[in-house]
Amino acid sequence: MTYSKITGLGYYVPETIVTNDDLTQYMETSDTWIQERTGIRERRYFTYGKDTNASMATAASRMALERAGVDAKAVDLIVYATITPDYFFPGSGFLMQRELGVDGIGVIDIRDQCSGFVYALSIADQFIRTGMYKTILVVGSEIQSTWIDKSTKGRGVAVIFGDGAGAAVVQATDNPEHRILSTHLHADGRYAEDLYVKEPGSSRPDRSATKEMIDEGGFDVVMNGNAVFKHAVVRFTEVIQESLTANGLTKEDISLLVPHQANIRISEYVRQQLNLPEEKIVNNIQRYGNTTAASIPIALSEAWEHGRVKPGDLICLAAFGSGFTWASALIKW
Ligand code: UT7
Repeated sequence: MTYSKITGLGYYVPETIVTNDDLTQYMETSDTWIQERTGIRERRYFTYGKDTNASMATAASRMALERAGVDAKAVDLIVYATITPDYFFPGSGFLMQRELGVDGIGVIDIRDQCSGFVYALSIADQFIRTGMYKTILVVGSEIQSTWIDKSTKGRGVAVIFGDGAGAAVVQATDNPEHRILSTHLHADGRYAEDLYVKEPGSSRPDRSATKEMIDEGGFDVVMNGNAVFKHAVVRFTEVIQESLTANGLTKEDISLLVPHQANIRISEYVRQQLNLPEEKIVNNIQRYGNTTAASIPIALSEAWEHGRVKPGDLICLAAFGSGFTWASALIKW
């Protein structure tokens, strides 16, 4: 039997740190409100002219490849998740492929928002299990600081999001003891408009963006924060339990839960529902905010660096986000 395993992890966060106090220059908010409601203390913003969505992903991928001891030329496929590509199309996966110098291999560009990395990992897992590919680069990268509205009008959304990238090298293995056990993907499009950006959509009368579209907020993130929160806490718990049940395991078997970093209160609620001690969950939202598709690979990379991911551990990844989408992956490290 062929299985897949993660053999290398990497991440890149831009150098500019934006604290909650920094945000008070642009909007009416406070460090106290942001920390109490979200847990976030600071986030990173990209540097124009230095970072791009693809360049950050390239840096993260190079780190992951180096740690895996794999040459970029050995990569068979790139699966790249982002909702903030450098161009409307083609996706940033193609730009990263060019930067890595691995032209010719396939690139699958996906969105799937905050669940993007787990969806991408699931795609990689399937391609490896069928024997089609042996080495796949799975990436999540976002530059969100340019599309958030940093005025008081947009504060409910703006304070949450940050920029960054994370990557994993996923490779074939015949060892059933160290592998991705299963992935579980879900979505419910009935809630698409509870967290979305309408433009630049194609279902409109004119070819180009108009001032009206901008003035009407078409390019702004629309988020029904309360609805997202309420669905998230239920779906996170559900999809984690689903992964455990599918593998005949229980929540006591989890060594480390790496949830998408959406809000510390969401993660804390889920942790309590699962009765996990604090040392069994990864929270780095305090330093990076919500980096959407990049949040899980950044958190997993940091946990690995800190020695919190060890051979034999049962690692659970779980995500929830726009779509609505939700997903989990269970990994025997
Ligand atoms: O990955 C998925 C991405 N999204 C999420 O996970 C979002 C999930 N939802 C959340 O995290 C929370 O709903 C938020 C953090 C977005 C908002 O927290 P909340 O506790 O649901 O606050 P709220 O939207 O109900 O607003 C409460 C109050 C309002 O004032 P009034 O109407 O009570 O006077 C807001 O205007 O807080 C106000 N407010 C703020 N005040 C200071 C909203 N944003 C801010 C802000 N600073 N940044």
